[in-house]
Amino acid sequence: MRNEATHTFETMTDASALPARVPTTRHYLMCPPRYFAVEYVINPWMDPDEPVDVDRAMEQWTVLRDTYRRFGHEVDEIEPQPGLPDMVFAANSGTVIDGRVLGARFRAPQRAAEAEHFRRWFVEHGYREVTMPTKINEAEGDFAWTGRELLAGTGFRTDPDAHAEAQELLGVPVVSLRLTDPRYYHLDTALFVLAEATDSAPAQVAYNPAAFSAGSRRVLARMFPDAVLVREADAAVFGCNGISDGRNVILPREARGLADQLAVRGYEPVLLDISELRKAGGGPKCCTLEIRK
Ligand code: ARG
Repeated sequence: MRNEATHTFETMTDASALPARVPTTRHYLMCPPRYFAVEYVINPWMDPDEPVDVDRAMEQWTVLRDTYRRFGHEVDEIEPQPGLPDMVFAANSGTVIDGRVLGARFRAPQRAAEAEHFRRWFVEHGYREVTMPTKINEAEGDFAWTGRELLAGTGFRTDPDAHAEAQELLGVPVVSLRLTDPRYYHLDTALFVLAEATDSAPAQVAYNPAAFSAGSRRVLARMFPDAVLVREADAAVFGCNGISDGRNVILPREARGLADQLAVRGYEPVLLDISELRKAGGGPKCCTLEIRK
């Protein structure tokens, strides 16, 4: 966009100066929230006294799935199971890099059985290197792949020993980060990758510094000097639980400030309503397990 008027607004960005953001096609595994409910409390967002509407959750989830497909991504679905109301949060059930699958081991006994359903899905779909962790490991809830290394969260869910285990089993460098705010109990509530690293450039990430320990903040600043720093107002509506394909960035619709920050950098924010799923402490990323072949 180039016309005289844009020059009068300081906040307007010259579109021709924006970096070209090139999307890459992704493969996701998702689980419909057919048995979604908030029946127990394992994070500060969950309140069993607040009613949840399963039909609305299904609608919001379906829009998310269809949005991925519209962008050309492949989406597989795993069959949801009665009695596992959090199974919609597929991100917690596997970390897949180079076709190697590292399964999950949940901290909460209420979620423990989810791990085996996902393990079986991977085996039945032809994945031959499927390993289950011996340490508490909530998978992509606490692991974010930058294209070069696996950022790994701990503090609330995933055991720090699971980081070393992931490094050994996946054969990728792992960088441990400590979460300190119970509202941001998984790494994927505090940080997400906007664009993976290339041969010449580090990954671009967005994160909420306030969710991390002082030492981890310094690690992040050192690794990602160009990161998008997410403000509290956006973090508090699950803005850090975004999903990016390198260009299109799906965010909870309330995360307007973050959407503006991303647009200025050449990304295309896509705002979706995930209000029903947030009642369980989840957002777009939590519903999405990425399969990297
Ligand atoms: N109620 C679920 C839990 O507390 C929500 C999980 C959200 N998933 C995520 N990847 N952050 O375990």
